[in-house]
Amino acid sequence: MSDFKNKIVLTGIKPTGRLHLGNYVGAMVPTLELGGKALDDGGTLVMFIADYHAINAMKDPVALKEAIKNLACAYLASGLDANRAIFYRQSDVPEITELTTILMAYTPKGFMNKAHAYKAQVDKNVAKGEPADAGINMGLYTYPVLMAADILGYGTDVVPVGKDQVQHVEMAQDIAGFINYHFQKEVLKVPEYYLKPNAAVLPGLDGRKMSKSYDNVIPLFGTPDEVKKAVMGIKTDSQAIDAPKNPDEILLFQILQGVGRPATVQEVKEGLEKGGMGYGTIKKMLLAELEEVLPSREKYLDYQNHFSDVEDLLRQGAEKARKLARPVLERVKDAVFGRG
Ligand code: TRP
Repeated sequence: MSDFKNKIVLTGIKPTGRLHLGNYVGAMVPTLELGGKALDDGGTLVMFIADYHAINAMKDPVALKEAIKNLACAYLASGLDANRAIFYRQSDVPEITELTTILMAYTPKGFMNKAHAYKAQVDKNVAKGEPADAGINMGLYTYPVLMAADILGYGTDVVPVGKDQVQHVEMAQDIAGFINYHFQKEVLKVPEYYLKPNAAVLPGLDGRKMSKSYDNVIPLFGTPDEVKKAVMGIKTDSQAIDAPKNPDEILLFQILQGVGRPATVQEVKEGLEKGGMGYGTIKKMLLAELEEVLPSREKYLDYQNHFSDVEDLLRQGAEKARKLARPVLERVKDAVFGRG
């Protein structure tokens, strides 16, 4: 198999704060697996921290800096090979923001109205009886144009996405199309999206989706005590130990299933079905399993403690990214300004 041979595969990740198991299972693992495959196939992997996209919502520079640091260290500690991939901060590549300005001029305003990140906010405002555009800045409104520049600026072939980002990639395709149609030639490569296999949604301690906003998370690089406390806090019911149970109805099992190795998952499944395996035992097994399968906290802390080295890596990544973006930007400028 070499689906990604000679392809440019690009993905952006928004920093959000402290990472948890849900982020790891739902986003990081699929991204790292696919990225690794792209590299193994002989493709180019472009992976960046979308800090410009983040500032639409995050206005506290201290929190933002921390979130970026956490994200970079988390990906590196989880095995991202920054020497093979092009790994950088979006804000270190000015070619992309230049391209954004040009794309703005070729993107109809009405086209932005349908972008769902914006629409969702409008709907929320309306539901609360507030003015439609309350709290919406131009960064959020034009989010898809910057994202199109992220993608088109490198001549990207493939963008791996979850369902929620498909529309954004389609808008990038359309924006490339507006420009190509206008100049009647392929100024910008029209990218494809690659829908990542549905990552399981990991439930949190209370059974709702694991999410920072529900305060129901197991931290990804928490101290052993924090992780233990979280696992012990997973909600259980009061069925008798000996009662045979349906594993699919047991929250603890669903969480284990999301992160555990098949043999462990199978063992617990059978234990529940037969009856006799208590929740306390399963919690201990889950803790041991997390210890086995999660990326090393030591490695993560090591990157955190040597963050200037990580920043060097990111800067080198940005240099590589700029090299890739420069000819694309030149081609666009030649077309737009009639310099070619
Ligand atoms: N919008 C993406 C998200 O919220 C992040 C992102 C920014 C991105 N630019 C991108 C993803 C370019 C893919 C390609 O997850």
